[in-house]
Amino acid sequence: MDNRPQWGTRAGFILAAVGSAIGLGNIWRFPGVAYENGGGSFFIPYLFALLTAGIPLLVMEFTLGHKYRGSAPLTYARLSKKFEWLGWWQVGIAFVISTYYSVIIAWAISYSGFSLNLSWGKDTQTFLFNDYLQAAAPGELGGFAPGVLIPLLIVWVVTLGVLFAGVKKGIELANKIFIPTLVVLFLIIVIRALTLEGAALGLEAFFKPDWSMIANGKVWVAAYGQIFFSLSIAFAIMVTYSSYLPKKSDITNNAFITGFGNSAFELLAGIGVFSALGFMAMQQGVPVSEVVSKGIGLAFIVFPQIINEFPAFNQLFGFLFFASLTLAGLTSLISIVETFVAGVQDKFNVSRTKAVLFGGGVSAIISLLFATRGGINFLDVADEFINSFGVALAGLVEVVVVIWILKQATNLQTHANQISDIQLGSWWKICLGVITPIILGYMMIDKLRAEPYGGGSYSGEFLLYSGWLVAAGALIVGILFSFISWKKDTIELPADKEVSR
Ligand code: ALA
Repeated sequence: MDNRPQWGTRAGFILAAVGSAIGLGNIWRFPGVAYENGGGSFFIPYLFALLTAGIPLLVMEFTLGHKYRGSAPLTYARLSKKFEWLGWWQVGIAFVISTYYSVIIAWAISYSGFSLNLSWGKDTQTFLFNDYLQAAAPGELGGFAPGVLIPLLIVWVVTLGVLFAGVKKGIELANKIFIPTLVVLFLIIVIRALTLEGAALGLEAFFKPDWSMIANGKVWVAAYGQIFFSLSIAFAIMVTYSSYLPKKSDITNNAFITGFGNSAFELLAGIGVFSALGFMAMQQGVPVSEVVSKGIGLAFIVFPQIINEFPAFNQLFGFLFFASLTLAGLTSLISIVETFVAGVQDKFNVSRTKAVLFGGGVSAIISLLFATRGGINFLDVADEFINSFGVALAGLVEVVVVIWILKQATNLQTHANQISDIQLGSWWKICLGVITPIILGYMMIDKLRAEPYGGGSYSGEFLLYSGWLVAAGALIVGILFSFISWKKDTIELPADKEVSR
């Protein structure tokens, strides 16, 4: 008898999936990526990536999890014992992401506190690197950045606390509280940003299409990269979450809601961020292109400057922004850690408590590396490599294995169509079997041919051990885990739960 936990309600599952998707990637990655890659014209590759890869892969992962009812390693092992390593590899990628993602959330918690008295001062860049992170040179550890440790502890206590409580009473409940709160907080920020003087300037910069960019392969690569990270696909999350779905669940509809929900939030974040950037550009009398920044710089350097210049209630808006970042990050981190909690639980047949203590505990300890003074350099490189040669590469291998080698397209299509409103047609197979592998294959070649990451600020040796080895490590550990044998009968799919094969 299968005693796998289940979501309490359909809304609970959707909120958890949307909660996983909406994360730091939406708020600090998307606006900058869109702007850099052609602004308004970026929406074409972005939408194309969402419709040809994002949603089709989401449907495939939901179907796999629902049909084979296991964590990613168990799901792939049930699909074919030969490909269990793919599940572990994706879990390994999630593990790496959890170790630094948790640290960025810790910064957001600190900044929620700093915003209460605007303690970042006027020079927000010096504050971030010198006062808060006390950043050391690449390759140096330099002891802990003291300000990061306590918020990091809070991040892990909340995340592991939610995971201890289980799927329904922990993950589902947390998302039911955090996601609506996040949406309300964020709407307040966006509405305020839109009504700031200069907002139109920012929006013009954001939406103004640069059509010359559209033929540039890099723009398409950026769109696919953004969609994969943002939708939490190819790193074991959506397979794990859908393994907790009840037998009667609409799969394709849920995938469309999750995909469009995530992109709607992403667009909202872009509108909010660029309105605020337009405001700042106007205050300083410079073009938007001079104030724009992405990633860490946008959230932790430019945003505090914007907050400084707010006409009123600066502290409140600072707090709302960083609290939103914290909530968005936490709901994603919970899903990232759940991948290895579920993997360990399935493989070693241990209680959830032990799996959370072990999986979460090891990740929490490794995250301390990124809380050192040199942590920001490790984080920057690990994030770049695990996205390119982890998430995107694992996505490519996933479609090739499932669609081409194991020839599962028709099987999965039949399974999803039996229980879903929106029927999958041949468009779904073409997207997965042809379009996605071609574009991801091109993406890999493009990444391999690119200049070494960091534009010269990192040595080859540093890139080797904090980038290449980290990405390769996820694969190697994944392969090693797949050699450990399963407890008797685990790989057999409990008959009463199987819908069709
Ligand atoms: N999907 C998560 C994000 O966007 C991981 O940050």
